[in-house]
Amino acid sequence: MNAPSNSGLAGVVAGRTAISTVGKEGTGLTYRGYAIEDLADHTSFEDVAWLLLHGDLPSPEQLVGFRKRLVCLRTLPDELKLILEQLPGSAHAMDVLRTGCSALGCMEPEHSFKDQNRVVERLLATFPSMLCYWHHFQLTSQRIDVESDDASVAGHFLHLLLGKPPGDVDRRALDTALILYAEHEFNASTFAARITASTLSDLYSAITTGIGTLRGPLHGGANEEAMALIDSFTDPDDAERGIMERLQRKDKIMGFGHRVYKHADPRSDIIQRWSKLLSQQAGDTRLYAISERIEAVMRREKGLFPNLDFYSATAFHFLHIPISMFTPLFVFARTAGWAAHVMEQRADNRLIRPSAEYIGPPLRSAHHST
Ligand code: COA
Repeated sequence: MNAPSNSGLAGVVAGRTAISTVGKEGTGLTYRGYAIEDLADHTSFEDVAWLLLHGDLPSPEQLVGFRKRLVCLRTLPDELKLILEQLPGSAHAMDVLRTGCSALGCMEPEHSFKDQNRVVERLLATFPSMLCYWHHFQLTSQRIDVESDDASVAGHFLHLLLGKPPGDVDRRALDTALILYAEHEFNASTFAARITASTLSDLYSAITTGIGTLRGPLHGGANEEAMALIDSFTDPDDAERGIMERLQRKDKIMGFGHRVYKHADPRSDIIQRWSKLLSQQAGDTRLYAISERIEAVMRREKGLFPNLDFYSATAFHFLHIPISMFTPLFVFARTAGWAAHVMEQRADNRLIRPSAEYIGPPLRSAHHST
């Protein structure tokens, strides 16, 4: 099938997967056959990571073992800490994770595909450590201990970031966000990671590819831009005026619209409930109300609905997470999805190499031009 010139491959089926469905009528989003609403209500991020990587939810013993391994794998090699210390405080947090992933791949390479489970567990365990180590070192020159007693990725990250154990509501809110962010079929970063995997490259390279692709504001970076937008308004009326002006200028409003979903993003309602709860817990009277008004204006004016990134922004804000870390949180979660896709690609691999329609000059000679 020939894709039209600027189609962005919309609607093109580019491969097969048994990992998730996105936008299928009647089901919305499923991971390995489980509806996202079901997973968000009844499982943890670690359950979901295991599900994506191994195909089924873990038994209680498997979950305990998986969590224990992740806890043990949180420590960073001294050489990696040195590299993190040299990255400037002005660096984009996604660049820090991209560099950290790449550097760890030099220090603890994937020796063969048999090593893939060890590597993905190491990355799931160390990404929060890398980010928080760099963050605190740049902010206060302190070399923090990257251990905590918290058995969950969500709780561990909040503990390292804020320097104290999180409350149950906060931990569960972030845990749910990680579930929602963990996987999404052939989105841009996952497809990019699969392309890297299809060359028989290593898992660190595939995840580094994913991070680089996720960084852009049309993909993972949308939650950071959504927060900056929401926070730029003083109240809902100000937001209404501001959004109308932006729409007249034909600006894109970050956190709205989706390539695949046409009527709603099933993840949005779930994260919106958490955003509302956290806003009440924080005594907020401004940001959540502004978000609701922006949603109403976008529905009325453009028929567009919020995607996962819109209400995630305020949820993360109420968890005291700096805006620059919103997209890195996406990485913590999506590493499970990326790795599951790399494993699936490897299990039935063929080099991904499409063709292009040539629209350049016809054949000409270099002979007379010199
Ligand atoms: N704000 C304003 N208008 C939007 C919009 C948004 N967030 N998203 C889509 N539209 C409009 C476009 O302007 C276009 O209108 P037009 O036909 O009058 O020109 C139409 O909807 C189609 O948009 P398009 O960008 O071509 O759709 P796409 O499938 O290529 O893009 C996204 C999908 C997600 C990239 C796009 O909706 C977007 O940029 N959203 C904001 C970024 C974001 O939230 N990304 C996270 C995705 S989970």
